Amino acid sequence: MKMESNADVIVYFNNEYVPLKDAKVSILTHALHYGTGVFEGIRGYWDGPQQDLFLVRPHDHYVRWKKNCGILRMQVPLSPAQLCDVTRELIRRNQFRTNVYVRPLAYKSAERIGVAPDSQDAFTVIVIPFGAYLPSENGLHAGVVSWRRIEDNAIPGRGKICGAYVNSALASDEARLNGFDEAIFPTEHGHVAEGATCNIFMVRNGKLITPPGSENILEGITRESIMELARTELKLEVIERPIDRSELYICDELFFTGTAVEIGPITKVDHRPVGSGSIGAISASLRRLYEEATRGHMPQYRRWLLAAGLKTISDRAA
Ligand SMILES: Cc1ncc(COP(=O)(O)O)c(C=O)c1O
Repeated sequence: MKMESNADVIVYFNNEYVPLKDAKVSILTHALHYGTGVFEGIRGYWDGPQQDLFLVRPHDHYVRWKKNCGILRMQVPLSPAQLCDVTRELIRRNQFRTNVYVRPLAYKSAERIGVAPDSQDAFTVIVIPFGAYLPSENGLHAGVVSWRRIEDNAIPGRGKICGAYVNSALASDEARLNGFDEAIFPTEHGHVAEGATCNIFMVRNGKLITPPGSENILEGITRESIMELARTELKLEVIERPIDRSELYICDELFFTGTAVEIGPITKVDHRPVGSGSIGAISASLRRLYEEATRGHMPQYRRWLLAAGLKTISDRAA
């Protein structure tokens, strides 16, 4: 089914499957004013030969989402397994035969003025067709921005909390206005944290290095997948340690990882070439491995994937 706009896409809202155009909230909604929501981002890839759509680590994303909701003392009433079922049902109802992005969002839903939250929560799950987020075939030019990554004791970055994304929006805006493809956030201590919507990895002397969770990063699921692929498939040593800004300028390779960004090799940083100035061998290998694994071409990583079950729709109708 080809869709011109997302208005007719069926979404899960207030425990019902309804068209996106009918899923409305009041302009007095607490989360709209105060950023009191928690969201997730999950990708699904359409596989032509198998005539099915494969969700990438949806269970892990829903486990993370529910834990993060707890930071704002919100509870999503469904289990990760039930949320996976809702997501598959959305894909089947919409009959998506293309790559998709899943956006679960839990939010403080009280319609009133006053920042102190109460226990009125709501949640929604949206699935829409989605292509490349940050085209990086020829490498990205990343720039360190003047904004600092928010501290865990201000708004926890690991929480995927809506309000925290003002920090990412400011960084993205500054980076793009200054001619970069993507931002690199420094921490308050001047270390490298991550991109605006992605984690960062550096290769130095054959070792893969990425900042630890305590550097105010979002503990990315793609980051975790890449660490596993690097250790298992490429036999690389993977180290989690703080990264200095100047290491960005002398390292051999750099790349971003994230559900939306996928694997984004960085070939230039702050107007300096990264390594040789072209996509490095390890970045290219990891990008290829990640693509193979998430498209179901590596049996040992099929455990990351959940089939939407599109093939069964005609069986069910019969
Ligand atoms: C700030 C930030 N860092 C990193 C990531 C990457 O996380 P994941 O790989 O779980 O999508 C994201 C995207 O969700 C993000 O918003």
